[in-house]
Amino acid sequence: MSQTASPDLLKKSGLAKKLVVANWKMHGNLEKNKVLLAQYIAALSGLKQTKIVVCAPYPYLAQLQQLLQHTNISWGAQNIAKNAEGAYTGEVSAAMLKDFGCEYVIVGHSERATAYCESDENIAQKFVQAKQHGLTPILCVGETLIEREAGLMELVIGKQLDTIIAQHGAAIFADSIISYEPIWAIGTGLAATPIQAQAMHKFIRNKIASIDKEAASRLKILYGGSINPQNALQLLVVSNVDGGLVGKCSLEAQGFEKICAAADMAN
Ligand code: 13P
Repeated sequence: MSQTASPDLLKKSGLAKKLVVANWKMHGNLEKNKVLLAQYIAALSGLKQTKIVVCAPYPYLAQLQQLLQHTNISWGAQNIAKNAEGAYTGEVSAAMLKDFGCEYVIVGHSERATAYCESDENIAQKFVQAKQHGLTPILCVGETLIEREAGLMELVIGKQLDTIIAQHGAAIFADSIISYEPIWAIGTGLAATPIQAQAMHKFIRNKIASIDKEAASRLKILYGGSINPQNALQLLVVSNVDGGLVGKCSLEAQGFEKICAAADMAN
């Protein structure tokens, strides 16, 4: 029988605090980022209940470090090498991300997994690299529309998680982040319904809890896929939704601010 983490346990561990992560994807330039970050700082510095993270393209990590270091906003990258060091042209290691003050890194985003043929095994290696170097991985999992229509979402996500569990046990999910990102919801304007999100987040938490209850209670599970100011609150109040991973609506300060305010309200 599967075990679930009690809400009390979550509160005690501080995990009740919501997390909103901006995934800028391949957007921005030095000038635009400067303006957007100044707007983020002005709008979000008052938030007490919600943790904010910005994940930017590699070349701008130094800029994030410079502009965010004395603020309540943390930063991270959108990808990481699966190896620690060596002859891997074009790759960026976990230690390099640490050099620029990154605390977080997105791992296995579906836009990379499909375009660059990242296997579940490669993604598992990247996840472990992040953990070994003290970065918090944000592991993206999710199903395609065809898989959802065939009722295969639990099977697909279960397999993505099993690859990591088989190599490193479920304990590795303690103090990690999983983002449920249905592929059909990313960039389409069609977010999962709160009921769909609730079911998948519960499945993910229960799966980890069935092996390691403590790890499950220390895991944050975000929702990602067409979050916007209109749907943010209804998604973020759902049980087992610990925050959001926001693409398009993080590129414009007003919308992002509204999503963060919804998260603060949902705490
Ligand atoms: P959108 O918010 O643009 O749908 O992107 C979601 C996403 O991919 C976050 O990682």
